[in-house]
Formats: sequence, structure tokens, C-alpha cells
Amino acid sequence: MNIKINENYKNLGKNYLFAEIANRVKKYTSEHPDKKIVRLGIGDVTLPLTKSVTEAMTKAVEEMGVKETFRGYALENGYDFLRSAITKHYARFGAAIADDEVFVSDGAKCDAGNLTEIFGDNPVLISDPVYPVYLDSNIMAGRKISFIAATEENGFLPTPEGIKETGAIIYLCSPNNPTGAVYDRRGLKEWVDFALTSGSLIVFDSAYEAYIHGDYPHTIFEIDGARECAVEICSFSKTAGFTGTRCSWTIVPKELKAGGVSINDMWRRRQTTKFNGVPYIVQRGAEAAISDKGYAECLELVDFYMGNAAVISNALKEKGIFFTGGTSSPYIWMRCPNGQSSWDFFDTLLNEIQVVGTPGAGFGKNGEGYFRLTSFGSREDTVEAVERLKTIL
Ligand code: MLT
Repeated sequence: MNIKINENYKNLGKNYLFAEIANRVKKYTSEHPDKKIVRLGIGDVTLPLTKSVTEAMTKAVEEMGVKETFRGYALENGYDFLRSAITKHYARFGAAIADDEVFVSDGAKCDAGNLTEIFGDNPVLISDPVYPVYLDSNIMAGRKISFIAATEENGFLPTPEGIKETGAIIYLCSPNNPTGAVYDRRGLKEWVDFALTSGSLIVFDSAYEAYIHGDYPHTIFEIDGARECAVEICSFSKTAGFTGTRCSWTIVPKELKAGGVSINDMWRRRQTTKFNGVPYIVQRGAEAAISDKGYAECLELVDFYMGNAAVISNALKEKGIFFTGGTSSPYIWMRCPNGQSSWDFFDTLLNEIQVVGTPGAGFGKNGEGYFRLTSFGSREDTVEAVERLKTIL
């Protein structure tokens, strides 16, 4: 063919992190069909949708089968009922968001990746380690990326101190994937102040906010000034078990302006052009998930997963292994024993005890020597994995 390709793709690693892990596990299982694998790798939920959600979806399915209530294309940015339910969810945390600042979508991952499209060639600041989508999508866009070190020394909560960039796009995720670290109000305020003085934009990922235990901000919009410098991505995946159902949202405050243009208008233009909306049935389920009754049910799911996190944490404590997370996050971020590299530890676990986790190095250079375990498994699998782990730690 004689076409030009996006050369930036050549700068990506061969596979997306979780695809690479899936490939390795598939190879192992095909070579060892008799071995039972326990998967604590990708953060995929295992509990079913809640009663409120399935009831709302069932009703919506019935509506779709009746001429008078049937619906065709969904509204690109979400039905009014869901946008309004999301603003009410923000009111739980004292954050005032207008309905037309809510953009419903089919995944926080998609939005994180797609957002790169509406910005020009700005410097990008990404903490390391980090959820790989921020990095890979900016590599695809050919941006200049600088890393902000998240280390044991700073409690995996880097501050803007010493950062020289201006007009940057800054990615923050709290509670953090993969480390489980959570910014308090003071920590987030420092970032907001930095963004305001440096003319930067924060892309805040709050996908794990439902896991917060304690007095931490659930949204960046709890912080004064955030409306002038931040967009927020959140999701029903981890809160309501929607990883397969697909529904998320992005908040784009109307105050945000760059180059004389409203970012809210730009994102609307982008989404209405390239996206046809989340199915009505799914949006009805999402609405139910964050109703008072539905949200209480979601928090029961969260409690269950946090019970798994306690099972993992207790075993690591018993073995004297350093770890973070597991208190306001479904992830446990542990140091690999005996100075092993992340991928060596991955191989040890897969080959010797058939437990799958996620190598820290897959989340960035500073993740080397660490390993992530998810608490999204069943209780049975989590206990089984921990028993196996104890035999080699
Ligand atoms: C993870 O394991 O980090 C997440 O499940 C990936 C995602 O949410 O896309």
C-alpha cells in the first residue's frame, strides 16, 4: 500500500498491558491445560449487577418492545434523566455540576483516550506508575510526555513542586490505579493551584471514588478553583459492576476556555460527531445504580471487594511484605519479594502457583519491582490465591 500511517504508533510497546498479560496466560493455559489459574490481574469485576440496576434495565427492555416507548438513536451526550442523576450524585459530595456539563459515554478508558483529540500539541504530565491509557493515547497523538515520579518516598502521591511546564495537560488518578494512593484535599488543592498558575488542564480520573474510606475528596470539584482548570472522568464500571455493560461520564465545566474556545463546546462537538450514545437500556440501569437505593446496593458490592482486599492485605502483613492500597482502593500494590523484577515475579506466580497479577513495570518505570493484585475476584478465588501466595513469599 502506498498510504502514510500514524508513525507515532511505532513508539508504542508491542501490546497494551492487559492484552500482553492475557496473551501470556493464554499461552500458559494451552501448554498446561490441567492447571487451575486464579486471576487477580485486570481489574474486572465478578459480582453481578445489583437488583435496582437489573430491574431498571428489564423495564427498559420492555419499553423497547412497545411501539409507543421504543427509542432509536440515544442522545449522544446522554439522556436528560441520566445527566441529571449524575449531577445529583455529585451533590452527595457537595459539588455543583450542571446537567449540560455531563457527557455520558461508554467508558472512562475511551474518554481518556479520546480527550487527547481536542487539544493541540501541549506538554503532557503523567505520573509514573500510572494507568497505561493516559500514556499510550498520548504516544499515539505524538505528544511530548514528562513523568512525575510516584514513589514510596512521596507515598505515591507526587506534588507539583519543581515542575516547570506551563500549558500542560496533567493526568491525575485518585484513588490511584495502580498504587491505591489517595489525595487528600490539601494534596489536590496544590495541583489545582499549580494548574491555575501554569495555565494547565487537569484530567482527573475518579473511577475508583466509590472505594474511598475516610475523609478524602471523591471528586476534584470538591476543590476550589477546579472548575477553572479540570475535567473529570468517572465510570459505572467499578462502582456498579458495569465493566461489560459499559457506561461512564466526563464532566467538562463551562468555565474551561482555551484559545478563545469553550472546552465544553469542543467536547460536545467531538462527541456528537463521533459517538452515537450509550444504549437506552444501559442508561436506565446506570440511573438506577446511583439512585439512593441503587447506590446503597453498589456500596455493598464495594464492601465485598474491600473484604477481598483485607484478605490479601492480611497475608502480606503476615509475611512482612511492603504494600500500599486496599483501604480506599480495590488494588493492592506490593513490593516484589527478594528484589525480583515485576515480570520475573509475574512469571514465578504464573509458573509456580498459577496466580495471575499485573507487573508493576507495566504501569511505568517506577513500577519496576512492584506488583498489583486486584480484589475484584470472587472470595473463593482470592482466598485460594492468597493461600498459594503464602507458600512462595
Ligand atoms: C485495570 O485493571 O487497570 C482496569 O481494569 C483497566 C480498565 O479499567 O480499563
